[in-house]
Amino acid sequence: MGEYQLQKMEKKLRKYIDEDRYNHTLGVMYTAASLAMSYDPELMERAQVAGLLHDCAKCIPNQKKLKLCVHYHISVSETEAKAPYLLHAPLGAAIAKDKYDIEDEEILSAIACHTTGKPGMTLLEKIIFVSDYIEPMRSKAENLAKIRQTAFSDIDFAVFLILRDTLIYLKDHTNLDNMTVVAYNYYKELMEKREDFE
Ligand SMILES: [Fe+2]
Ligand SMILES: [Fe+2]
Repeated sequence: MGEYQLQKMEKKLRKYIDEDRYNHTLGVMYTAASLAMSYDPELMERAQVAGLLHDCAKCIPNQKKLKLCVHYHISVSETEAKAPYLLHAPLGAAIAKDKYDIEDEEILSAIACHTTGKPGMTLLEKIIFVSDYIEPMRSKAENLAKIRQTAFSDIDFAVFLILRDTLIYLKDHTNLDNMTVVAYNYYKELMEKREDFE
């Protein structure tokens, strides 16, 4: 048995998220475990924990989300105040620490940046970011088949494709978090430096 009591966490989480979110969560958890198997099996358990808890704050009503951000001293940007659903990521990290006793800073940061990504993500952070986008229940995004395939052989390229498609999708939205743009520029530059990139 590993360091974490996954089944216990799963049972607790189930009370706080609805059925659709729970099914998505299991998809993310197992996709994250699979990506860890492919890149670094030693990350598997931590990838499962981060996958299981990544949306733990998703089903909290928006007003309560804002209140909890004050409680946990999470700064709220103008965009986040207008679109509080964005806060479920940093708030999820605070709740994972406070209510699920997660002390591992990398697990917490993988939860905190799973929606927007960020420059220079660690492998675990990339695994959660990508798993959230490609897990089997997802069906709407463009290029899903290509991104799913790429994720297991070239995770940086998969991160780049997701950020690119997210920006295209959010083009006309006012609720675009600036961190997505910053992350996109970082991974675009990373790709452009590679010889195999066209
Ligand atoms: Fe999320
Ligand atoms: Fe998610």
